[in-house]
Amino acid sequence: MKTLFDPTHIGTLPLKNRLWRSATWMNMADDKGHLTDRLEATYLALARGGVGTIITGYAFVLEEEQPNPGMLGIYEDSFIPEYQAFTKKIHAEGANIIMQIVYGGSFTNFQPENRLIWGPSAVPHPLTQVVPTEMTKENIHTVITALARAAGRVKASGFDGVQLHGAHTYLFSQFLSPYFNRREDEYGGSIENRCKIVCDTVEAIRKEVGPDYGVFIKMHCSDEWEEKGLNEEESLYVAKELEKRGISGIEFSGGNLDITAHPNTGPGRSGILKAEKQSYFAEKTAKIARHLTVPVISVGGHRSPEKLTHILNTTQIGYFSMARPLLSEPDLINQWQQGNLKNPRCVACGKCQDIHGNGCILDRKPA
Ligand SMILES: Cc1cc2nc3c(=O)[nH]c(=O)nc-3n(C[C@H](O)[C@H](O)[C@H](O)COP(=O)(O)O)c2cc1C
Repeated sequence: MKTLFDPTHIGTLPLKNRLWRSATWMNMADDKGHLTDRLEATYLALARGGVGTIITGYAFVLEEEQPNPGMLGIYEDSFIPEYQAFTKKIHAEGANIIMQIVYGGSFTNFQPENRLIWGPSAVPHPLTQVVPTEMTKENIHTVITALARAAGRVKASGFDGVQLHGAHTYLFSQFLSPYFNRREDEYGGSIENRCKIVCDTVEAIRKEVGPDYGVFIKMHCSDEWEEKGLNEEESLYVAKELEKRGISGIEFSGGNLDITAHPNTGPGRSGILKAEKQSYFAEKTAKIARHLTVPVISVGGHRSPEKLTHILNTTQIGYFSMARPLLSEPDLINQWQQGNLKNPRCVACGKCQDIHGNGCILDRKPA
């Protein structure tokens, strides 16, 4: 029987357990995207808390393209020395650390009026109402190159891998979705075309980092948006194409961010205290994972170690990542490992975001 605490490998990367911290923007980096003492302390607490592999919050790869404040940056080589010192400290605590990189696009409320925002097509984002400028092929090339260069910096910084953000209606997720992507060129229309930018980026990253480095993606098992969104068959197609291009592992999230029309169907849902409401993308992810050979990480509402152990032993899902529970209790994994198989303190209230730095509302000091 497999357990959550089995040591495994992905390629040459050893993992001390099957539990990951899913990428979580902390809103604690400085104005230019540099680490702060508080942000570093947050990551060190996670590393000490037992999680095997930490994925950083999404990092921006072009200086002028920052979808949220307080994000980490990786847009120039000057970041490398500070991240080298940082990754050494995390490794000394026994955890792996992977950096998530992103081109954001129209899922932003951060000074959209002052910035040029690109998208596959000029379709308003249903949540932010920001209308992006339709990208030319040259713009697409610029983004691919920026992501590949950033991946090279991630490797030079001592991270154990890089993860492309292909979920949650950021740029790549928009290219994959028929709602956002109305293009009629080779980047739009069929799923073969809609995934071209993602496939080209993975190829460019592989060239930059070589064959053995960890290159991961977070993408949707389904947008859960009828014909407007990426569906499970299409998601499987994309995953297979990425396998051919040497992706090291795929983290499947999902959900619909048109939250006015479809409330509580997004990636981070509330009302999941009962076990049957938890792990809400695991069934769809398991259907896709059956057809894949690369390791699959599942994210979204994981809360019960018993339920995760069951999923682990009855599907091809090999790893589980969590965001909100580890914001609330960075040492949750140590507690589970010590036999305290309690439910997390996190009740998925959805109040993690704070202009002074994200974290659990239960720990917030009164203003
Ligand atoms: C405060 C906050 C910040 C997040 N930042 C990111 C991010 O930078 N990149 C990402 O892929 N997902 C991000 N997410 C989504 C989580 O990684 C995860 O997919 C979602 O919260 C569901 O998992 P959970 O039920 O374990 O929280 C964020 C979620 C929260 C609550």
